[in-house]
Amino acid sequence: ELADRRALLLEINKQAAKYFYCKLRTPGGADAMAYLKRRGLSDETIRMFGLGYSDKYNNDLYQFLKKKGYSDELLKDSGLFNVDERHGMYDKFWNRVIYPIMDVNNRVIGFGGRVMGDAKPKYLNSPETKIFDKSRNLYGLNAARTSRRRNLIICEGYMDVISMHQAGFTNAVASLGTALTSQQAGLLKRYTDEVLIIYDSDEAGVRAALRAIPMLRSVGLATKVVNLRPHKDPDEFIQKEGMEAFEERLERAENSFLFEVRILQGNYDLTDPQGRTDFFHEVAGKLLKFEDEIERNSYLEAVARLYHIQADMLEKLVNKLALKGVGLAEQ
Ligand code: CTP
Ligand code: MN
Ligand code: MN
Ligand code: MN
Ligand code: MN
Repeated sequence: ELADRRALLLEINKQAAKYFYCKLRTPGGADAMAYLKRRGLSDETIRMFGLGYSDKYNNDLYQFLKKKGYSDELLKDSGLFNVDERHGMYDKFWNRVIYPIMDVNNRVIGFGGRVMGDAKPKYLNSPETKIFDKSRNLYGLNAARTSRRRNLIICEGYMDVISMHQAGFTNAVASLGTALTSQQAGLLKRYTDEVLIIYDSDEAGVRAALRAIPMLRSVGLATKVVNLRPHKDPDEFIQKEGMEAFEERLERAENSFLFEVRILQGNYDLTDPQGRTDFFHEVAGKLLKFEDEIERNSYLEAVARLYHIQADMLEKLVNKLALKGVGLAEQ
């Protein structure tokens, strides 16, 4: 019963994706097509990602699916429609470019829709449904899973994934407008051992990276962070600097622990004795968490080198904290 229902919802999504896809290629979709072209997407890329357009009529998708015989109750569950007392059911996506969201098996599980101008909200997404669990899927993974590149890239947005794929970085995926979840980290781990985080270079992006790192680490993924500055996201970087420069940034990705330490350093004034003391105490606390001795020591030496402190000194501090941890301090 539930399986049947899920199958029907997948079928509805597939029909809707086709409908949007075709609309993009009608005269009514000309502005949307021009928008995508202006953003540098080729016909092939637009086709590969199944991009579409939801037009300016507010219930044509509804009519289309009704004619196919789906019940209102089922259509309600698809998340494709809004319902209110006065207007009944009407299309959720209105005059937006449509990004179908696929699961790893290429089934359409939801949609994102972008305005073509500066209206708010910029993106509208399908709500969670019986077939769309945002925390357990990653945009672009259906394509990235067969990429020949040796790691996976996690970024913020639809356009970032699409731009990267078009430029040959076919290993890019995005978390779906939410913070990376532990289930998504687990999903990544099924396909790779190394993840490059390439979030937007604004403060929100840095915060998101700081939250993602421990999540990725805890499932055993080696993690690095890519610096895009002065550009704001991978899409913009590639448009402005091209793919060679982008590849170079990937190669220069920063070890995630050293990234964490560098961000931490921003909270302290290292020219001040108290600032230095507090900073190195906090770093020692982080070093303590590495259980493997070689690993801990490698990081310790890297920090000592980068922040100009004697490795011995830092090591003593770490050992002192370790003793404190088991209640042996001051003995
Ligand atoms: N997002 C969302 N709803 C919003 C804003 C953002 O769901 N109102 C999600 C989208 O998946 C979006 C991602 O968060 O792709 C990153 O957001 P942002 O950086 O603001 O947008 P960009 O992807 O850079 O969008 P664009 O380049 O099209 O302006
Ligand atoms: Mn419509
Ligand atoms: Mn952003
Ligand atoms: Mn962008
Ligand atoms: Mn962005």
